Amino acid sequence: MLITAQKPLEVQPRDMTNILKFKEKKEITDINVRNKRVLVRVDFNVPMDEDGNITDDRRIRYTLPTIYYLLNENCKIIMMSHWGRPKGKIVPSLKMDAIARRLRELLPLYRIYKADSCIGKEVKELSNKLNQQQILLLENTRFYPEEVKNDDEFARNLALHADVFINDAFATAHREHASNCGVAKYVEEKGYGFLMAKELKFLSSTIAEPQRPLTAIIGGVKIEDKLPAIKNLIGLADNILIGGGLTYTVLLALGYDVGKSVRDLNKVEIVKQYLEEAKKVGTSIYIPSDVIVTEDLRRIVPVETVPTTNIQKNQIGADIGPQTIQDYKEVLMNSKEVLWTGPLGIFETKEFEKGTRELAQFLVEQNITTFVGGGDSAAAFEKFDFEKDISFVSTGGGASLAVMKGELLPAIDFL
Ligand code: 3PG
Repeated sequence: MLITAQKPLEVQPRDMTNILKFKEKKEITDINVRNKRVLVRVDFNVPMDEDGNITDDRRIRYTLPTIYYLLNENCKIIMMSHWGRPKGKIVPSLKMDAIARRLRELLPLYRIYKADSCIGKEVKELSNKLNQQQILLLENTRFYPEEVKNDDEFARNLALHADVFINDAFATAHREHASNCGVAKYVEEKGYGFLMAKELKFLSSTIAEPQRPLTAIIGGVKIEDKLPAIKNLIGLADNILIGGGLTYTVLLALGYDVGKSVRDLNKVEIVKQYLEEAKKVGTSIYIPSDVIVTEDLRRIVPVETVPTTNIQKNQIGADIGPQTIQDYKEVLMNSKEVLWTGPLGIFETKEFEKGTRELAQFLVEQNITTFVGGGDSAAAFEKFDFEKDISFVSTGGGASLAVMKGELLPAIDFL
């Protein structure tokens, strides 16, 4: 259902300095790393199951181009990452040993050591003793309370491991922490790795020089996380397709009942303002015309399709309906580029996966250039096995949203 006036988009001029800032910084290939000791910040914040097994190792695998490059350049490599949110304490289940094991499986020909700390005499000795083409993985940086405070002293101590600092942790680039920001102040030679480069080049070109029509698909549950991105996309994207849990706050703003569906009453007024703004500048905003509802998300019976204008008091919206899938496909069919963040339904549950699955499949089949950002949307593409076929699935949730909002990524700024 189209809810803002259909007039051609008047693209609103905006300052792209923040988004293009990375172009002022050095890429790994601009730096002489040959034979040097290179400290690499990666984002190995990977999901794991109750038994401590890594359930999705993409973030590890995707840093391999940077690691191989440094190995070929005969470097000594010191890697560091956070894992989870241990809040400045040592949490045994978040020690980096499982990650070191996975790295060894991926790089069987190389010697990979794992340290029990990040700073201090012992770990410093280990990094000093490292031979060319050997790797040392430091312990979880967030075991130190100083990390998230971007503490100067901690950053300076981390920098002692480095002749060169390479940041390849796109997924953490929106955080201003010591291991991805402060440390850069204390290393003369610094730049970003291949994963960071790939992410930033793809996303920034979609935002700064989009192929038109540009369509954004915005789903997910928390509207507060997505609103700043929606704000920035109004006047930039030709179309915005709304789905997922945030649909229901938009419906409230339009005066419809949403039954027991998830909603954020505090955001209704701001949504109304954004809809007005979209109307003025000609960004077409679509909301689902029908949704799949249930009365109980735990027992999932009965499941039925209802028009979005007719959700009953006891019903919970859980996916977009068949008419909406059809409508959205028509918009996508005429789009040249797509930015997608957030799933369109509760895709983890079979009964509510169809909207996300069918549109993902459609984009793959139609070969439409698509950037998928956000942990949940990436997980959906992985679940449906479309990840390898779609143009780009980002490793960063918060970071790609920050770019969509037009924010300057601190980790890039510090480089
Ligand atoms: C992520 O998974 O989004 C990044 O690793 C950042 O993690 P954080 O949200 O715990 O800072």
